[in-house]
Amino acid sequence: MAGIRGILLMLSIFVMVAAGVLSYDRPPPRKDFFIPRLKYLSSTSPEQVHISLVGPDKMRISWITKSDATAIVEYGTSPGESKFSATGATTSYSYVLYTSGKIHHVVIGPLKPNTIYYYRCSYDYTHEFSFKTPPPLFPIKFAIAGDVGQTGWTNSTLQHIAQSNYDIMLLPGDVSYADTVQPLWDSFGRLIEPLASQRPWMSTEGNHEIETIRFIHSTPFTAYNARWRMPFEESGSTSNLYYSFEVVGVHVVMLGSYTDFDPNSDQYKWLRGDLAKVDRQRTPWVVVNIHAPWYNSNTAHQGETESVDMKKYMEGLLYQARVDVVFAGHVHAYERFSRVYNGTEDKCGAVHITVGDGGNREGLAKDYIDPKPEISVFREASFGHGEFEVVNATHALFTWHRNQDDEAVVSDSVWLKSLSSDPACKV
Ligand SMILES: [Fe+2]
Repeated sequence: MAGIRGILLMLSIFVMVAAGVLSYDRPPPRKDFFIPRLKYLSSTSPEQVHISLVGPDKMRISWITKSDATAIVEYGTSPGESKFSATGATTSYSYVLYTSGKIHHVVIGPLKPNTIYYYRCSYDYTHEFSFKTPPPLFPIKFAIAGDVGQTGWTNSTLQHIAQSNYDIMLLPGDVSYADTVQPLWDSFGRLIEPLASQRPWMSTEGNHEIETIRFIHSTPFTAYNARWRMPFEESGSTSNLYYSFEVVGVHVVMLGSYTDFDPNSDQYKWLRGDLAKVDRQRTPWVVVNIHAPWYNSNTAHQGETESVDMKKYMEGLLYQARVDVVFAGHVHAYERFSRVYNGTEDKCGAVHITVGDGGNREGLAKDYIDPKPEISVFREASFGHGEFEVVNATHALFTWHRNQDDEAVVSDSVWLKSLSSDPACKV
């Protein structure tokens, strides 16, 4: 078994080098975690539990069991209460010589807002989990971290996020850094379970989720799509790789940087229709997540088609819809731009913020283009996470929390005014 894992690791390194993932110099990061399955768990015990929003008042509960188990969630508003139950579907996948556990997805609800629910999965009454639903009204707080991985820095970032009293987690791609070594997906699921079983985690894909190996495994996103099922049907999308959702007064779009985005693509047509349906009375804020940033003054990841061409095709749609903020990952450093459109400052454009430095093993992208472009307001190569607290229909506070000596330090913050409240930028 160790021999097979060694071969898979070598294959992964080859694939990453071929993809240019290791092609620039970064300082050494902290080591990868590997969290094994707990020995005392039975073969039908739930593990790797995470939850995600589905529509205005439902939640998808996702978990994995080692062997066949019933896809059922029993839940209520008091510990041990099983007033409600719901069943769902079970899937699994194969990847080279790896076969996943049984992956269960169950949608529960309708749920009351701002309420703690207690839940149990697959009739396992020895493990009770709980989550809190989002509030019904402003304020609402999002935590955001891209390129998370599973290192000591990831752990530090997760600890800080846990202390932030956030409502919803946003993941703009590059989640587990399994990079074809499938047991690392399981390890990542165990690492984040304490947080992701308590608050909805909403993700979109990055390049590290593709996981194709030439001649060996040609289907992209096999593990990501099986494990991180997102509510795409609810927003009219036909792909798990892009979707939108609404929570309180915020319309959140999760775009797919690694699927087609040209004007003839399904994603482009879906985005155009999705943005056209936004009602700024109901959702005064519109936030977009992508993986590869459209604005970037770091020397890393310059000129990639997912940045250059996706921006060329889609930025006009975002501008016309008066998108307030675009969060991105991919570049392992923090950077905040002023409101921009078509490369220049524009008071009706989106604020672009890169948070691709949650803590992965590749380290930081420390080299910047000199001199700093005027539209780049703040840039810093550090691990950490962002918090976006939407206070009301007109004002939101974004803060960047740098991991420094394992302390969370606010090193950048900015108050944003919604474009829907600016008469000069009305749609
Ligand atoms: Fe990436």
